[in-house]
Amino acid sequence: MKLVILSVAFLVVIIYFISNIFSPEAHHQQGSKMGSKPDSSWIPPSLFTDRQTSGEERKMIIYGEDLIANTAYYFGPKGKVRQISNGMNCQNCHLDAGRRPWANNFATTFSNYPKFRGRSGTIEDIYKRINDCFQRSMNGQTLDSNSYEIQSMYAYIRWVGQGVTKNDSPAGAGTGKAAYISRPADPVKGKVVYESICQTCHGANGEGLPAPNGVTYLYPPLWGPDSYNDGAGLYRLGPFANYIKHNMPFDRATHDNPVLTDEQTWDVAAFVNTQPRPHKDQEDDYKDLSKKPIDFPYGPYADSFSAYQHKFGPYLNMIN
Ligand code: HEC
Ligand code: HEC
Repeated sequence: MKLVILSVAFLVVIIYFISNIFSPEAHHQQGSKMGSKPDSSWIPPSLFTDRQTSGEERKMIIYGEDLIANTAYYFGPKGKVRQISNGMNCQNCHLDAGRRPWANNFATTFSNYPKFRGRSGTIEDIYKRINDCFQRSMNGQTLDSNSYEIQSMYAYIRWVGQGVTKNDSPAGAGTGKAAYISRPADPVKGKVVYESICQTCHGANGEGLPAPNGVTYLYPPLWGPDSYNDGAGLYRLGPFANYIKHNMPFDRATHDNPVLTDEQTWDVAAFVNTQPRPHKDQEDDYKDLSKKPIDFPYGPYADSFSAYQHKFGPYLNMIN
């Protein structure tokens, strides 16, 4: 009997010891005790604590942030600088003006551009990338790369990406990922999700809710004439799913506590992206078919998967 108790006690001690070695917290504590960096999560910069930037540069960063947060005020249908976009704000899709972790932020933008992009088949700089979102996500027109406005957005994006070097990918950079599901995304099921979770804010017809000032939206539109066009990143199921999984519904979802299941995420993406929206001529996109993302909804394709599977998945057996 004594022997049994002894050996159980021995086992408990061993298990405790082993579990401690493998628990991430143990490493974390050890790491900080030794003065090493506890983790590599991205910490967005703040203008309140920033004592580095001053003068004209600081002025441009502040203006750039405002342009990204309140785009419609400057460039929407009643824009005071020009009228070139649809009434949405960049921030509708790049939360906290592109500074919220996991919410399509600009953590790694400055360090990665200029870079080659398959859609245009060229090396693109940040100006081109900003204008891409103007033309597609905001269904609008481009800004001259010499304009004070785009220069200010550039200064802001550079400031947001400070301390991040090329090919760094700190946790929280860009957007999180919605896990793939094993069946095609289903717009019929997605409609149910939309009506029960999204509609209170985004409206019965995806039209959003205009703000009382009539310049922008309290809740931006998800389809219809004032939404992103069919050449936008969000029109692909992957980017849409990755964005909403950790950020929608806006008042409740976070990266650590998403509200939508993976099924609901892909289904509602399929529903929203089968509703009518503005069309963009995409003749010149993806001239090199091998660069088309698997979820690009228009053929022709370099592989033999059906157009349906490209649009709705399942994507698991398409990645190699
Ligand atoms: C509580 C209100 C609320 C709910 C519920 C909600 N959203 Fe949103 N959504 C917002 C707001 C507000 C924004 C813009 C955020 C900003 O500008 O900071 C937004 C932005 C978006 C965007 C990007 C901008 C656009 O219009 O294209 C998408 C896509 C989106 N929501 C999808 C969804 C989906 C899908 C659901 C349901 C699963 C959902 N939202 C539920 C409030 C909501
Ligand atoms: C309707 C949603 C939406 C709006 C509005 C929008 N964007 Fe985007 N933007 C995206 C998505 C989605 C991506 C990533 C696309 C992809 O995965 O290919 C992106 C990517 C970018 C990138 C590249 C980020 C990187 O690190 O690769 C920049 C820069 C950018 N947007 C700037 C802007 C600016 C500036 C505005 C306003 C003028 C704007 N966006 C408006 C959805 C939007």
